[in-house]
Amino acid sequence: MSVMLAEAPREVGIGIRPALVRDLPRIMEIERLAFGGQWDYYQFKASLEDVFLLAVDAVTADTVGFLVACCCEIARRGIILRVAVHPDFQGRGIATELIEKSFEELQKKNLDEIELDVDVLKRGAIGLYEKVGFQVMEVFSTSEENDDTFCIMRKKLK
Ligand SMILES: CC(C)(COP(=O)(O)OP(=O)(O)OC[C@H]1O[C@@H](n2cnc3c(N)ncnc32)[C@H](O)[C@@H]1OP(=O)(O)O)[C@@H](O)C(=O)NCCC(=O)NCCS
Repeated sequence: MSVMLAEAPREVGIGIRPALVRDLPRIMEIERLAFGGQWDYYQFKASLEDVFLLAVDAVTADTVGFLVACCCEIARRGIILRVAVHPDFQGRGIATELIEKSFEELQKKNLDEIELDVDVLKRGAIGLYEKVGFQVMEVFSTSEENDDTFCIMRKKLK
């Protein structure tokens, strides 16, 4: 006898690919959910020249997360500027996959290390970055009045 499931199990296969202009509306939707929409369309458009990776659902082809990084060739350093995963898809290793793919892309550019900064209150994100090999190097505040404190984290590429 066959049994009908009320809801099919959702096994999500994820593919990683570079972002294109046509992806920007969906990226901005995820940006709004993750960061309250700090970056605008033009900041994302300019980032298409950098390392800009998307995680896409292999079944539906929907974008479920993104990562933006840039390269400072003089300092031989890559900088991860943004990582976000749609709330419905968090906790499935998608950010980890995006970050690990960005290591491959940044390694091709002959850089020595990767840097990022993260709000000290984002314990989950700090845990994620530690898990993929980043270490906290410095803690700094952007203002004395507000409680805006960030960690600078770095990882050697070679
Ligand atoms: C942070 C963020 C990108 C993580 O995406 P994700 O796909 O859920 O992350 P992963 O599933 O790859 O998590 C890997 C590890 O990171 C840590 N982690 C991630 N999110 C966490 C959370 N909310 N709380 C605690 N640990 C967390 C865990 O160690 C986790 O490993 P585990 O699943 O074995 O416990 C996602 O929660 C997000 O988009 N947040 C809003 C935007 C943001 O804060 N971006 C990062 C700061 S720039």
